Amino acid sequence: MNKTKRRKIKVILQQGKEQDEVVIMGWVRTRRDSKGGFSFLEINDGSCLKNLQVITDHSIDSFDSISGKLHTGSCVSITGKLVQSPGKGQSVELQAKSIEVYGEADPNQYPLQKKHHSFEFLREISHLRPRTNTFGAVMRVRNRLSYSIHKFFQDRGFVYLHTPIITTNDCEGAGEMFQVTTLKPDSIPMVDGKVDYTQDFFGEKTCLTVSGQLEGEVYALALSEIYTFGPTFRAENSNTSRHLSEFWMVEPEMAFYDLEDDMNLAEDFLHYLFKDVLEHCSEDLEFFNKQIDKTILERHQNITEKEFERITYTDAIHILEKSNKKFTYSVEWGCNLQSEHERYLSEEVFKKAVVIYDYPEEIKPFYMKVNDNGKTVRAMDVLLPKLGEIIGGSQREDDYGSLLKRMQSKNLESEDYDWYLDLRRFGSAPHSGFGLGFERLVQFVTGVENIRDVIPFPRTPKHARF
Ligand code: 4AD
Ligand code: MG
Repeated sequence: MNKTKRRKIKVILQQGKEQDEVVIMGWVRTRRDSKGGFSFLEINDGSCLKNLQVITDHSIDSFDSISGKLHTGSCVSITGKLVQSPGKGQSVELQAKSIEVYGEADPNQYPLQKKHHSFEFLREISHLRPRTNTFGAVMRVRNRLSYSIHKFFQDRGFVYLHTPIITTNDCEGAGEMFQVTTLKPDSIPMVDGKVDYTQDFFGEKTCLTVSGQLEGEVYALALSEIYTFGPTFRAENSNTSRHLSEFWMVEPEMAFYDLEDDMNLAEDFLHYLFKDVLEHCSEDLEFFNKQIDKTILERHQNITEKEFERITYTDAIHILEKSNKKFTYSVEWGCNLQSEHERYLSEEVFKKAVVIYDYPEEIKPFYMKVNDNGKTVRAMDVLLPKLGEIIGGSQREDDYGSLLKRMQSKNLESEDYDWYLDLRRFGSAPHSGFGLGFERLVQFVTGVENIRDVIPFPRTPKHARF
């Protein structure tokens, strides 16, 4: 392996310089043989969307012995000379001097032979789909967005906090948690008809976290501004294009922020992410705009250039009631907004991002701050056209008495949340935060319709294998 002269294709194409000898390593996307004793290979190494074109003369050393192994999908190392390319759409091409085949891919068996495969087909081969243009582009965009999320918060002095994955508390109170246990299903210890969790690994019932927020609050009330960025798990049986059982969430939590500060931060954050990805992933985004959805670049501009509309839940209900539109789920004050309602507001009424705030107390979790009217809480959701909810957040209840009352009305055992109540007992502070669904962000940015296609290995009901 000639490693010292190896160059990534992205760098070669960016520089566009002729060079006597370089080595590239990657996978053959296509091979075309021409009559005059030449073959053209398109090589991709995942560093960028574009392939590098390689021309090989059949008279080079050992060509005859490897020719039968050079197929779509084969992995190769090629040493050659970079020359200006006469072809359109590429700066340089490689004239091969020698080719080594690392691994071949039998054309009768390798599944990725066509130029276009359906997302459904590719989901069946999630171990090979990263070798397609679409998945390469999705993962590069996902990577850039992760980086810029950290950059946004780090530049503003937020501390990156690692919250636990195994937990005893149900933050959202929706009972949609996966249990973590070492008890054997065929011999579960029981006492008085109930599972005896004292014999379980942790000595009590434990689950995978649905959100790092509550632990995030602990640290915000010491370090002022923190954020988490990690996997979360929800055992909700939602087989939709926007739900995963395992997804990544970004959760900033800030002391001394009220709901308005929280909404401002969410808006600045999304503006920043869209601008950054447009700047750093332009090639991939243009590909999506051409192949997946011809309106995405326009939609990004619409988000980055316009201020978000902010309306109360009560006003949103008025608009929906007056709309004369037939919804599957009817609308009245107190109902949960469904994605059809959210999309109507952002796509048809305002035609931009919308923030809805001050939701009815009954439909929101225990930790949100109750408004003076006693009926609504300081919650906010950010909705995007074509996607619906991307962010959910709130100002947190910082008053001990009000929090305790709200926990009791939602039948939460206050002993389980003693530590959470302590935060209001000792040095309580107004504070707020929100959660961004990372895969929904990648969906919006790429225009990919189904959330299963923006995460490397999706976990959904009845699906945890490759
Ligand atoms: O609105 P949610 O449930 O809010 C929370 O979990 C709060 N504790 C966040 C906070 O205030 N720190 O979830 C936040 C976001 C949603 O807006 C959505 O984008 C995403 O997480 N989300 C999901 N994404 C994929 N699959 C699922 N099953 C999701 N459930 C929520
Ligand atoms: Mg929500």
